[in-house]
Amino acid sequence: MSKQRVLITAGATGIGREIARAFVESGASVFVCDINRIALANIAEEIPGVLTGHCDMSSRSHIERMVPEAAAALGGIDVLVNNAGIAGPTAPTDEVDPDDWDAVLQVNLTGTFNTTRLAIPHLKTAGRGAIITLSSMAGRFGYRNRSPYCASKWALIGFTKTLALELGAFNITANAILPGAVQGERLDKVYAGRAALSGKSIEEVRREALASQSIKQLVDPRDIAALAVFLASDAAKSISGQALPIDNDRQQA
Ligand SMILES: NC(=O)c1ccc[n+]([C@@H]2O[C@H](COP(=O)([O-])OP(=O)(O)OC[C@H]3O[C@@H](n4cnc5c(N)ncnc54)[C@H](O)[C@@H]3O)[C@@H](O)[C@H]2O)c1
Repeated sequence: MSKQRVLITAGATGIGREIARAFVESGASVFVCDINRIALANIAEEIPGVLTGHCDMSSRSHIERMVPEAAAALGGIDVLVNNAGIAGPTAPTDEVDPDDWDAVLQVNLTGTFNTTRLAIPHLKTAGRGAIITLSSMAGRFGYRNRSPYCASKWALIGFTKTLALELGAFNITANAILPGAVQGERLDKVYAGRAALSGKSIEEVRREALASQSIKQLVDPRDIAALAVFLASDAAKSISGQALPIDNDRQQA
């Protein structure tokens, strides 16, 4: 493949930043959008060559501005990484604030739809492409006290499978990556939320979480990035419509 042009949503920190780094290292041109302007400035400095743009993924008008901006900056789009996803509340469903429900669905599902619908024409023009969407182990299992997040991550699997059917004829693959418990700040917050709700210590919560994995480790975000680069490569041209866990063989959420 010639130099890939990659758009990554909400990628200025965390897993998205590792994905950006891996694509740049593979020789791709990368555009990262994010809501956090400071994080955007930091990633532009940290990963030379990365193009950046401000976007609130809960805003349709922001996305309608951002995707054309990314396509213009990159000279087209071959690869879309739908990385944006907020964790949302930790509470039993009957205590979830409906506004919090809306906020999670708006970013995780509707934001992904709005980005994807606008990126598809660019991928079709490229004649070959890949759409990679970050779901979660919460898109594979029920996830106690995280119903908005869980519902959004299952929805992204249906979205991915539908994209695969619609876009296969255009040499565009669509796959979902389902990370388990990933090293980083976000998981620290999830464990803290769970501990607060259950009255257990954070260490206890962490031990319990790893008990349901064959490999007793957190997932290295660089491994997720390597999987994304592979899924966008020519070697993965026959893989589409798949939901790929990368979770140390987790048996439950
Ligand atoms: N970290 C994990 O353990 C884990 C596990 C499974 C799946 N995932 C999924 O992987 C993806 C990335 O997760 P992460 O942990 O790196 O995320 P994160 O919480 O570290 O956030 C990544 C970025 O999203 C940006 N962001 C937040 N709200 C935004 C908005 N409205 N518009 C634009 N940008 C916004 C933040 O500024 C941040 O730079 C998400 O879809 C997440 O659900 C993460």
